[in-house]
Amino acid sequence: MADATTLNVLVFCGSLRKGSFNRMLTRALPALAPADMTLTDAPPIGALPLYNADIQTASGDPPEVTALVNAVRAADGLIIVSPEYNWSIPGVMKNAIDWLSRVKDQPFLDKPVALQSAAPGLLGGARMQYHMRQSLTSVEALILIRPEVFVNLAAKKFDEKTGELTDQPTRDIVKQQLEAFAKFIRKLKE
Ligand code: FNR
Repeated sequence: MADATTLNVLVFCGSLRKGSFNRMLTRALPALAPADMTLTDAPPIGALPLYNADIQTASGDPPEVTALVNAVRAADGLIIVSPEYNWSIPGVMKNAIDWLSRVKDQPFLDKPVALQSAAPGLLGGARMQYHMRQSLTSVEALILIRPEVFVNLAAKKFDEKTGELTDQPTRDIVKQQLEAFAKFIRKLKE
């Protein structure tokens, strides 16, 4: 079990596909995280039904939603690593945010969040991140301002065969963000 000073951070991936660059990025995080931060993958967001208030009225929150809520509540912070779809948040990720936002005592309130994105294009998912900041502000999460992590031209930054993040400047900025995130979480705990 993590000791009292360890920061327990939950990692979301906004892509479900096997060969996902964003999933590769999540896999690079543990090696780049500060020693006092433990990273755990969030329960699968692809298992959630599409949000429909009638489901809640008829039978309460689905167990997949409750599992996610409990994981978010237990975490000291969240890292959301996601692609950009049509200049915005992928539906599967937005669906998870929508579910969590509609449970009793929604768990995003005052939760520290850091954002990352990877994309083959030049912008690296920047437009998704700004939409994500907007949605997360609506649920009163506390979002790390900088450093921002946009992994652009992603095909050149990961090893094609192993999926390892090989680009050193990208590794550096990710490391810097994780260090800044640990400080941010601790400051909010004071
Ligand atoms: C994309 N892609 C994309 N890329 C981008 O930079 N801006 C965009 O608006 C979009 N829009 C978009 C829509 C849809 C429906 C798909 C499937 C893809 C390309 C996207 O960045 C690319 O497929 C990434 O590889 C997806 O991330 P993962 O799955 O590799 O993590």
